[in-house]
Amino acid sequence: MKRQTGTYEISTVAGEEVRAFLPTALPPSNPPLDLDALDTPLRESSGKLRELELAGHMVPSVDWFVYAFVRKEAVLSSQIEGTESTFMDLLESEATGKATNDRDLEEVCCYLDAIHFAWAEMDSPSGLPVSMRLLSETHQRLLSSVRGKDKQPGEVRRSQNWLGGTRPGTAAFVPAPPHRLQALLTEFEQAIHTESDLHPLIRAGLLHVQFETLHPYLDGNGRLGRLLIALLLKHWGLMSRPLLYLSLFLKTHQREYYERLGAVRTDGDWEGWLAFFLRGVAETAGDAAGTAQVLNSIVIDCRAKAHAHPNATVLGLRLFELLPEHPIVGVRLASELLACSRPAATKALGSLEAAGILAPYENAERGRTLSFEPYLAPLRDGK
Ligand SMILES: Nc1ncnc2c1ncn2[C@@H]1O[C@H](COP(=O)(O)OP(=O)(O)OP(=O)(O)O)[C@@H](O)[C@H]1O
Ligand SMILES: [Mg+2]
Repeated sequence: MKRQTGTYEISTVAGEEVRAFLPTALPPSNPPLDLDALDTPLRESSGKLRELELAGHMVPSVDWFVYAFVRKEAVLSSQIEGTESTFMDLLESEATGKATNDRDLEEVCCYLDAIHFAWAEMDSPSGLPVSMRLLSETHQRLLSSVRGKDKQPGEVRRSQNWLGGTRPGTAAFVPAPPHRLQALLTEFEQAIHTESDLHPLIRAGLLHVQFETLHPYLDGNGRLGRLLIALLLKHWGLMSRPLLYLSLFLKTHQREYYERLGAVRTDGDWEGWLAFFLRGVAETAGDAAGTAQVLNSIVIDCRAKAHAHPNATVLGLRLFELLPEHPIVGVRLASELLACSRPAATKALGSLEAAGILAPYENAERGRTLSFEPYLAPLRDGK
């Protein structure tokens, strides 16, 4: 089925024809979405998302999972862009607190900062709602790294961009020209805030594509568009904590992801994209709920071990409760966290090591560094 999802503005640049795509306002019409075809994937994905939401409420300290999930997302989403930092690189740099010269890691840290910022705004009653203003302020943080600084952080583009190819005339896809962008972004915001009968998951899927099709910034559109999905689910009350991110799924199926984005524009195939997107939500939410439960039982097990061990100390047990948010820890950090002397921190670390909870961290540059291995093991997969 062919459906027209936009029109082309044709111009001539240096003697070459350039066809820039102007998407039609959401929701799709002519014909409207075939919701029957999406019924099963929608039921499955919303069911899994509810499971994840419940898992988030059942575990006693959801912050621990949020800590891990947000960091995993920052790493994975940046890997799609081509950075090579790993989850462990990020944790290690946070544990040592050193300024980094590693450009890849710097980008990951900016993405982490951007996620925190956007989520905190949405959480605060006086914060920004999901809007272009929120996205631009988030973009500013996302591109504040050395590499991003010359890509107009925080600003909607003022020049023509293109995807694939060396110039607009030969590109695979040319987004809207800058003089059309403002009006299209206003329509984009209206599509978020206008009442709709469509399920929020469907709406989030539509809006992600519309955002990528508009490509409002010079860089960072992929990372911001993926974060947008989580922000929309929060906005519509489907996710109260930032636990669902599709980057691993989209990275694993990157070719299909790009093809399906293209097919919405060229063939009007919204249903094909939505079925793919909903499958991603179902798989990701299912996995995340599973990981949350696994991490929860690991923490419960380890806590029991920490308390039962003959060397248990009060400081050691206090340190244990801080480990999920500081899974790599040395004497300096432990003494800061516990506000105690270095010898006392060393003793606390030693008691948790004796209980089999902390293990020497092999990558440590200098001094003694330990890691909460049982908790990190399930988080390392997938990168
Ligand atoms: N054919 C296409 N049509 C529309 N959007 C596309 C198409 N192919 C890719 N994209 C989107 O463009 C994004 C890349 O844009 P950009 O470089 O601005 O974002 P990024 O965050 O820097 O990169 P990345 O997404 O690779 O991490 C892709 O992630 C994808 O979402
Ligand atoms: Mg890029």
